[in-house]
Order: sequence, then C-alpha cells, then structure tokens
Amino acid sequence: MADLAPITGKRILVTGVTGWVAGPVAASLAEQGNTVFGVARFRDAEARAKVQQSGVEPVMVDLTADDFSTVPDELDLVLHFAVAKADNFDLAFRVNAEGSADLMEAVAQRSPQLSAFFHCSSTAVYAPVHGSPRKETDLLGDSHRPMPGMPTYSISKIAAEVLVRHTSRRLGIPTVIARLNVPYGDNYGWMLFHLMMMERGMAVPVHVDQPTDYAPIHADDIARSLPYLLSLASAPAEIVNWGGDEIASVEDWCVELGRLTGLTPTFAPTTATIASIVPDLTKLHDTGFRSRVGWREGMRRQVTTSRPDLLRA
Ligand SMILES: NC(=O)c1ccc[n+]([C@@H]2O[C@H](COP(=O)([O-])OP(=O)(O)OC[C@H]3O[C@@H](n4cnc5c(N)ncnc54)[C@H](OP(=O)(O)O)[C@@H]3O)[C@@H](O)[C@H]2O)c1
Repeated sequence: MADLAPITGKRILVTGVTGWVAGPVAASLAEQGNTVFGVARFRDAEARAKVQQSGVEPVMVDLTADDFSTVPDELDLVLHFAVAKADNFDLAFRVNAEGSADLMEAVAQRSPQLSAFFHCSSTAVYAPVHGSPRKETDLLGDSHRPMPGMPTYSISKIAAEVLVRHTSRRLGIPTVIARLNVPYGDNYGWMLFHLMMMERGMAVPVHVDQPTDYAPIHADDIARSLPYLLSLASAPAEIVNWGGDEIASVEDWCVELGRLTGLTPTFAPTTATIASIVPDLTKLHDTGFRSRVGWREGMRRQVTTSRPDLLRA
C-alpha cells in the first residue's frame, strides 16, 4: 500500500510543545510546510526560544486558567499532547481531563471548519496482563500507580478519554484518541534514564513478571503515523492503540545500550514499577501504517545523538 501523503499546508495547534513527544512532532509539521502554533505555559524562556527556533509559533495557554483567548482561529487540526504528571488528583483531573474538554470547546467555537481533534492518550490506561497484547476494548486499570512519581497518571488519562469522548459526541468534533505506548527519539526517551542509571552503576527496575515488554515507537514513526491516525477521526471519537511494530523489553534495550556503550546493566525485579503493556496494533495496521525504525537502530541513533561520549560499538 502507498504511504499516505504527509500533512502539509494546514493551520495546526500542537499542545504540550515543550514536552518530549509534541516538540519533535510540531517541528516536523512546521518543516512539512504547515503553520504550526505550539501551546505550553512557557515558564522557561529558553523552552520558548527553542520552540520558536523550530519554526513553531509559541502560544501561551495554561489549561487550568479558563482562558483560551490566545488560541488562534481557523485551525484545521489540533494535536493535543499536553499532560500534567501530577502528584494530586485535583491538578491531574483539571489539566488532563477538564483542560482537554475545555480546549475542545474553545477550538470548536473558533474553528468550525476543524477537520480533526487528535488526543494523545496512553496505554497506561490498560490493566496490564502479562504476555497478552491489549486491544482497545480490553479492561482499563491503574497500571502506573506502582511507579514512583506517577500516582495519578493512569486514572487521569482515563478521565481525559471520557471527557474527550463526551465532548466529541456532544459537539460533533471528529476526534481520534490514540493510546501511545513507549515513545522515544534521538533526543528523548525512558531509555536515556536507564542509560543514566547504568552509567552510575544503579540497577534498572524491571517488573517481577519478566520480560518487561513494550512496543517502543521512534519519533520519526510517531510523526509519519499522524495522517494514518487522523484518518480514523470521527464523532463520536475513535480509540486506537499507537506503538511500533517490534516488541522490546526494558531488559532488551538495556542489554543493547550495554553493547553500544560497554556499560553492564544490572536489573532489580520489583512490583514498584510499571508492568509490561504491549498494545494490539491491529486497528493501527488496518489504517496502512507500519513503523520503520527498528528499536535497535533507534537505540543506536539515540546514543549517537544524545550520549556520543558513551558510544563504543
Ligand atoms: N512520555 C511517555 O513515555 C508517554 C507514553 C505514553 C503516552 N504519553 C503521552 O504523550 C503526551 C506527551 O507526553 P510527554 O511525556 O511528552 O509530556 P511532557 O514531556 O511531560 O510534557 C508535558 C507538556 O504539557 C505541558 N503542560 C503541562 N501542564 C500544562 C498546563 N497546565 N497548561 C498547558 N500546558 C501544560 C508542558 O508545558 P509547560 O510545562 O511548559 O507548560 C509540556 O509541554 C501526553 O499526553 C502523555 O500522556 C507519553
């Protein structure tokens, strides 16, 4: 099947633009000839300048502030990535759930011609079942509660999905909710934390149910998959899993990082970390999308770009 054409010539709002996933997405859309507006609170002037340098126009919005007056009119697309990884449910619900619905409502008023609202969710919404890929219809659960620093994440991402679905149905906004697995790029990713731990001789937490498998997806594939995911947008909202074709475990990528750097990983099996969650990608693949960056190639690119000082092999 021929590739879907990349998105070009559109007015696009990307939220969470100072974050890991949305920054490279916004930059690649700007590079493809779109007018891209990037939303964040921009409390850090350096982050704002970096966004500007990537060809994206910064738009200051605080999703807790009930003020969307800075959001531009006549948007074609909204890609909503902003998230609060908060330690209290008040803030997590306010940003992730209510903030998502408020944003949809504000955009619907200003951009009646909007062709799609894209909501980035997470496979964190699933109840993990070891060795069994999760389908979009499978049971939800609080998978991230055991992970230090993520006590509200799964539940507030579930709440966000509910409000996004409801708002899509209520206002007739074509919407896709994409449940992202493990994103990474040349400059970001969970693996870089693991590499830092290896560098310091610390054991990497893995789940007691090993291997701690995921379906990592590289930033290049994240950007390339957008037209495929957007082809599913409908009202009421469509939900789809989002990940790379190859399964790799935390154990696998740490061993590969060890091979690339000469560092030796050690592992600490525990229940105080996220259990393996592998998404069933049938629905994504039915759109025609297949990932292209294999995880081993992705690890090499990541180390080469982010930690060239450590690269040995
Ligand atoms: N990272 C992962 O491993 C992973 C896995 C699966 C799914 N996801 C999903 O992918 C998306 C992006 O995640 P990420 O890890 O890239 O996020 P991140 O790096 O933590 O960045 C979060 C973004 O949200 C913005 N934000 C936070 N609070 C805000 C508020 N009150 N108002 C406006 N903007 C606010 C932040 O901007 P300021 O702080 O500058 O305002 C930042 O741009 C999220 O929806 C997440 O659930 C991530």
